[in-house]
Amino acid sequence: MTKSLTIPPLTDDLVQVLIDAATIERRVDEIASEINRDYRNVSDPLILVGILKGSFIFLSDLSRKLRIPHVIDFIAISSYGNQGTEQGNVRMLMDTRENMSGRDVLIVEDIIDSGNTLDYLQRNFATRGAKSVRIATFLDKKDRHKTDIKLDYMGFEIPDVWVVGYGLDYKEKYRTLPYIAEMHPVK
Ligand code: IMP
Ligand code: MG
Repeated sequence: MTKSLTIPPLTDDLVQVLIDAATIERRVDEIASEINRDYRNVSDPLILVGILKGSFIFLSDLSRKLRIPHVIDFIAISSYGNQGTEQGNVRMLMDTRENMSGRDVLIVEDIIDSGNTLDYLQRNFATRGAKSVRIATFLDKKDRHKTDIKLDYMGFEIPDVWVVGYGLDYKEKYRTLPYIAEMHPVK
């Protein structure tokens, strides 16, 4: 079968491609190399916890580039409203399955905005006795942070615009675009 070279075109909702697919792939490679190096001596498999739904594509690409023992887990969090979690209301909709006690945990997130989701999860996982809790985020809106969080692995810093693609959505649309695109401000 020949590989399709068709790139889905921008629709009227989208302003421009911010990060193309080739650039994404190179960066995910680099992040995987860092993780492979940092966790090369893990005894028990690293637990990768993807935050649903946005992280599922980053998690699947990243995990397939890992050469260290790891297991996949997921958590679902609700943030009220569609624009991130600005009000700081974070609620768990679906919990992980792995027992984190004594284990190394790597939270895999699509994008950090206020940082409230990550702040909540880091505390929550720490109370379960995880040996270490680190964060890998694909994107970071650094200027929007409201909490002081340390990002251990970060793909790209982006400005304060709404982005879609590579797992990220706007009202469930555009998640499966192979690139990151900027949306027109929603009226
Ligand atoms: P935080 O808790 O404010 O850091 O919110 C992070 C969450 O808001 C992410 O996991 C996304 O679900 C969502 N989010 C924030 N900015 C964007 C964006 O530009 N596009 C899509 N989702 C976003
Ligand atoms: Mg999310």
